[in-house]
Amino acid sequence: MIAPLVIGNWKMNMLVSEACDLALSLANNSFEGVDVVIAPPFTSIYPVSQIIKESRLGLAGQNFYSGSKGAYTGEISIEMLKDVGCSHVLIGHSERRQLFNECNENINRKVQLATQMGITAVVCVGETQRQREEGNTLDVIKDQLSKALVGLSGQSLAFVVIAYEPIWAIGTGINASPAQVVETHKFIRKFLFESQEFSENIEPRILYGGSVNAQNCKQLLCEEEIDGALVGGASLNFESFYAIIKSCVGA
Ligand code: 13P
Repeated sequence: MIAPLVIGNWKMNMLVSEACDLALSLANNSFEGVDVVIAPPFTSIYPVSQIIKESRLGLAGQNFYSGSKGAYTGEISIEMLKDVGCSHVLIGHSERRQLFNECNENINRKVQLATQMGITAVVCVGETQRQREEGNTLDVIKDQLSKALVGLSGQSLAFVVIAYEPIWAIGTGINASPAQVVETHKFIRKFLFESQEFSENIEPRILYGGSVNAQNCKQLLCEEEIDGALVGGASLNFESFYAIIKSCVGA
């Protein structure tokens, strides 16, 4: 059985000193049986990488640009993320899709680049409230997934994690119910095995994100279909994030 994976997405929060304090608290604690990754904002990635380098914590970028290098003012490449020690990168987060017009083609290009570099692409998918109400959740997920993963080889797929984050659950305090998550994760798993070149020894992890907290985490993570959590707000504070990590042990 693979260990649960918990990723803390710090989004656009925390100054360098705050990020380093939180990283240090996490690095000083153990979390046997759970894989933990933190995704600080760009300004904190390098100092945080130095703090956690002897620990079991993984490091993720929250985004990157799909060019390799050159005249792209304000952008960060996947090679730069690798250079500062990132093992993971978030791709296609709904905030990037909605606020920064990220399209599926660009997301696919990023997934290709990250996986070729041996960096795990955490591919985010999820429906709006309206899409759910209209009964279109699974069609939306299928469309996002098929476009994000098109052209990926079996080898690259070993570096893919899917994060199901219903948009209506992000930052609202209303998490999807375990039954809703299980239904969608089952669909994602079936889709991946039927349409992608997953070999038998590649088991894609499927995470849930959206108002995960120390209270609801255990109930979600004890579902066999849910391989971990992508946590926003509750990852900004040591107590709440560590409680989430702890609740995953043995889940
Ligand atoms: P919240 O946990 O704050 O709902 O955010 C979820 C998320 O967007 C993680 O990427």
